Amino acid sequence: MPVDMKDIVALCKRRGFIFPASDIYGGLNGFWDFGPLGVELKNNLRDRWWKAMVITPPLGPDGAPVDIVGIDSAIIQNPKTWVASGHVGGFSDPMVDCKETKKRYRQDHLIVLTSEKADRWPAFHEESENADMEKKLKKLGMPSDLSLFEKINLTKLPIEDYAKIIGPDTKEPGTLTEPKEFNLMFETHAGPIQSEENKVYLRPETAQGIFLNYKNVLDSTRVKMPFGIAQIGKAYRNEVNPRNFIFRSREFEQMEMEWFCHPDEAKMWQEFWFEERTKFWKSVGLGSDNLAMRPHDSDELAHYAKQGLGTSDIEYKFPFTAPGYGELEGIAHRCDFDLKSHQEHSGVKMEYLDPARDNERYIPHVIEPAAGLTRGVLALICEAYTVDESRPSGVYLNFTPAMAPKKAAILPLTAKEEHVPIAQKLYLELREEFPVDLDIKQNIGKRYARQDEIGTPYCFTIDNDTIEDQTVTVRERNTMAQERIHLDKVSNYLREKMKG
Ligand code: GAP
Repeated sequence: MPVDMKDIVALCKRRGFIFPASDIYGGLNGFWDFGPLGVELKNNLRDRWWKAMVITPPLGPDGAPVDIVGIDSAIIQNPKTWVASGHVGGFSDPMVDCKETKKRYRQDHLIVLTSEKADRWPAFHEESENADMEKKLKKLGMPSDLSLFEKINLTKLPIEDYAKIIGPDTKEPGTLTEPKEFNLMFETHAGPIQSEENKVYLRPETAQGIFLNYKNVLDSTRVKMPFGIAQIGKAYRNEVNPRNFIFRSREFEQMEMEWFCHPDEAKMWQEFWFEERTKFWKSVGLGSDNLAMRPHDSDELAHYAKQGLGTSDIEYKFPFTAPGYGELEGIAHRCDFDLKSHQEHSGVKMEYLDPARDNERYIPHVIEPAAGLTRGVLALICEAYTVDESRPSGVYLNFTPAMAPKKAAILPLTAKEEHVPIAQKLYLELREEFPVDLDIKQNIGKRYARQDEIGTPYCFTIDNDTIEDQTVTVRERNTMAQERIHLDKVSNYLREKMKG
C-alpha cells in the first residue's frame, strides 16, 4: 500500500521529529523546526557526511586518500559575492500570476492540456493526478477523455496561446499573465540604515562561501591540487511554492563540497564523485530501488552548470513523487565559472601554480556534489516508515542503527524498586557512548510501541531474571525477536550493531 505523506507528517509531529515553525501562531509557510528526535537524526546524517568527506574521505583512483578540508563560512557575505556568482542576475524563476485569484505559479511547474480542437486549454500543477484533471474537464463542460489532449509544459507554449489557457484555480481562460522573473534571494540590511548600499542577502547556497575562501585555504593549509573544501550549513531561498513538507522549504540545510582539479581531469572526477555519493546514500539506508541517477536535461541546468559539462542528479522516490523521483543531490561540473567570476569582480588572482605539472598556471575546474541535509532527513524518514498492522503501534521506523536518533531504550519491566536501580545503572553506563532512552512509566507494550515509532533499534528490558542471573532481554525492532544477554555484554553488543 502506498504510504500517505499525511501519516508521515503526523508521526513527525506526534513523536517530536519535525514541527511547523511558529506553530502556536499558525506556522509560517516554508519554515520548519526540528524537535528533540529530528535534531538527533539530522545530526547523525550531518556527522556521517562530514566523516565521509572530511575525516575519512575516500581513496582516489590512485589508491591514496583524497584531500578535503572543512570550513564554516558566514551566511551573509559581501553582496558583490552574489553579483559575481550570478545569483543577483540569474537566480530567479519565471513566474506567472493569475489576475483573478492573485495566485502565483512557477511557469515550469504548470502543464496545459492542449488540443487543436478546443478553444480552452485547462492548466494544472505538474503533480496533479489524472482523476483531478478529468474532474475539472467535466466541470468545465469539456470532454473528459484525456487521450484527446496533449500535456504540454507551460514553458513550451508561446505567449499568444495564453489567452486560451484556464489557470489551475479559475474557470475562465485568459487570466494568466506573461512570465516575470522573481529573484529567490532573501534580502536584509547590514547596519542600522535600511539603504540600498546596506542591502545584503541571506546565502541561497553554501557553495559561494567555499569559493570565497579558496585562496585562504590554499594559503593556510597544505592542500595541493586536486583537493576539496566542504561545508554544511543553512541556506535560504524565497521559494514561491514551498511544498511537500520539508522537501522544498525556504530555510534548509545543505552539505556541499567543491572539488578543485585540473580542467583535463574534471570529467573523470565528476564520475568518481557521482559513484562515491551514490554509495554514501546507500550506506545511510536508502534502498537502491528508491534511488535513481539522472543526467540533467540541458534546459533545466543552473546558470553555472551551463558553462560546464552539466549536472547529474541522485534522486529519491519520495511518496509524493512516486512513481517518479525527486532530487536529493546534484553533482555539477561548474567548470571555472565561479573562481573566474570572483577573480574578475574582486581583482584577486585565483590561478594555481601547479608544481606537479611543470609549474603550469590554471584556474581549476570544479566538481560539486551538493546535497540537501534537510531533504536527506526526509528521505531517511520516508524510507524508514514501515506499516505493520500486527504490532500495537501499527508502524515502525526502520532506521539503520547508525542513523537512529536513539540507539537503545532501557526499560525496567515494572516501576518496582528492584528493577529501576539496575535500569538506571545501565542507562548511566550506556549514555556515555550512545544516545539512549530510559523509560520507566507505562506498561511494557506501550513503551515498545513508542520505541518502534521513533525507530529505536534495540530495547533492553530488566526483569526478575535480571536480579537472579544478571541478564537482560534484548528486543530487536524489526523482527521483534527477543534474546537474553548478560548485562556486562550490553555495551559491546550495541557497539557491534552500530558498525553497520
Ligand atoms: N550549490 C549548488 C546548489 O545549491 P541546488 O541543486 O540548488 O544546487 C542542492 O541545491 C541541494 O539542496 C538540492 O539537491 C536539494 O537537496 C537541496 N535544496 C535545494 N533547494 C531546496 C529547498 N528549497 N528546500 C530543501 N532543500 C533544497
